[in-house]
Amino acid sequence: MKVTIVGAGAVGASCAEYVAIKNFASEVVLLDIKEGYAEGKAMDLMQTATLNGFDTKITGSTNDYSKTANSDIAVITSGIPRKPGMTREELIGINAGIVKEVSSNLIKHSPNVTLIVVSNPMDTMTYLVHKTTGLPKNKIIGMGGALDSARFKYRLSEALECPPSDVDGMVIGGHSDTGMVPLTRLATRNSVPVKAFLSEERLNQVSEDTKVGGATLTKLLGTSAWYAPGAAVSGLVQAIACDQKKMFPCSALLEGEYGLNDICIGVPAILGKDGLEKIVELQLDDAEKAKMKESAEGVKKTNGLLDV
Ligand SMILES: NC(=O)c1ccc[n+]([C@@H]2O[C@H](COP(=O)([O-])OP(=O)(O)OC[C@H]3O[C@@H](n4cnc5c(N)ncnc54)[C@H](O)[C@@H]3O)[C@@H](O)[C@H]2O)c1
Repeated sequence: MKVTIVGAGAVGASCAEYVAIKNFASEVVLLDIKEGYAEGKAMDLMQTATLNGFDTKITGSTNDYSKTANSDIAVITSGIPRKPGMTREELIGINAGIVKEVSSNLIKHSPNVTLIVVSNPMDTMTYLVHKTTGLPKNKIIGMGGALDSARFKYRLSEALECPPSDVDGMVIGGHSDTGMVPLTRLATRNSVPVKAFLSEERLNQVSEDTKVGGATLTKLLGTSAWYAPGAAVSGLVQAIACDQKKMFPCSALLEGEYGLNDICIGVPAILGKDGLEKIVELQLDDAEKAKMKESAEGVKKTNGLLDV
């Protein structure tokens, strides 16, 4: 199992670390355009191997895609992150060109690869990869919902004053400050709907805090977060690499599902050896359907800025 991660920055390196620590991949290649940067991160991570007890071999490459040849899975984290006060959508001008070039280079050396798109604005970047690479739709997956759901569960656990592991919940819709749709109706604490414990007002607050989860961290850190994003990507990589058939909300190309067409947006999906193996259609109530529709309109507006 060979995994390439393009962009050895904060999220890329964090993802490499979690993949290595979970010890399911034989090889991780980090690639970056910045001279020596990926090699340095790879060496630093390899020096944690005996400390963390993993056997995954991590190597680095400065823009040499031959080193990524025959990757099973490739993660695209290359591009600029947002600064405090910016929206993810504002990154499109720079990141679209980077994502287009990187995905094309990856496929040249690994024609059977499954791509996981992380660079923002993620739903639009995932759509761009669908439009420009010709890879089958199951082999292009956008990561956003897994992170947003982890943030939702964290906020729910705060409100419930319980450990996050007691909580289950999911965020679908666009990966943006306004487009996320936290499914509070379906969220549970040990199988009990969270509505049994929290007022509607408190649940609305949890939803709002979840939606600006990334912006809150960007304001605190001065750049976008990396630990939870890296961990979330590593979960998707593991599900595919180990054929786990796990369900994550992922940005998927929709062809009629949820009443939407020609768009990539967050929906629950089953991930296994064939990548995104199945989209799960939930029975949404009217309010959730309306939020999903509004979210899709926002993503389509950003897609309209692409030159495809
Ligand atoms: N989808 C999500 O949930 C999510 C979460 C966090 C961050 N992000 C996004 O991920 C991206 C990376 O964030 P980060 O914090 O790691 O940024 P970063 O600046 O730390 O790292 C980005 C890296 O990409 C490299 N790069 C730029 N152009 C490249 C190219 N053409 N080829 C190879 N490498 C190139 C840079 O040299 C840099 O090292 C951003 O767009 C950010 O918004 C997405």
